[in-house]
Amino acid sequence: MAKLRELRASDRAALERAVRSTNAFREDEVEVALELIDAGTNPRSGYLFTVAVDENDLPVGYACWGLTPLSDGAYDLYWIVVAAREQGRGLGRVLLEHVVRDVRARAGRLVIIETSGKPEYAAQRAFYERCGCTLLARYPDFYRLGDDKLVYMVRL
Ligand SMILES: CC(C)(COP(=O)(O)OP(=O)(O)OC[C@H]1O[C@@H](n2cnc3c(N)ncnc32)[C@H](O)[C@@H]1OP(=O)(O)O)[C@@H](O)C(=O)NCCC(=O)NCCS
Repeated sequence: MAKLRELRASDRAALERAVRSTNAFREDEVEVALELIDAGTNPRSGYLFTVAVDENDLPVGYACWGLTPLSDGAYDLYWIVVAAREQGRGLGRVLLEHVVRDVRARAGRLVIIETSGKPEYAAQRAFYERCGCTLLARYPDFYRLGDDKLVYMVRL
């Protein structure tokens, strides 16, 4: 069973492989994921990370979250990824539960999660719903024509 630990700069290549293995992201999205990983190794960035590693300490997934700027206790889940070969074994839930625990420990009130309404994102929506997230809003055609933005929430 994977365990969670802090992000290290040396995790970058393995995390890039994990992100790419999912086939869930366009190239511009992969680049943003990598920018956040690079920023996240600086504790002053405001980006919080947890990394799931296998028995050889090889990263197989991660979550990235942070305080929503100018809010009092709302946190955004920016990214959650489990490498394709590790999916469906409870690791995503472990990552999300860690994020919620951490936000609670920081006296946060809300975790906000944005995702796509595209048919190809049905698995992600099922994941958030199975993990107890509440669908708050749908912004029609937000990302692109035919690609709605869905906003989920965990209220603490
Ligand atoms: C979304 C993601 C993080 C889920 O991680 P995971 O380890 O596969 O999920 P888990 O095994 O922890 O599943 C947790 C729950 O979600 C459900 N779930 C997960 N994938 C599902 C799917 N494809 N269809 C239906 N339900 C699903 C599981 O059945 C489980 O519910 P249960 O515990 O009640 O049985 C992972 O699939 C992933 O990395 N996807 C690609 C990246 C991505 O799109 N990230 C989100 C946008 S940033």
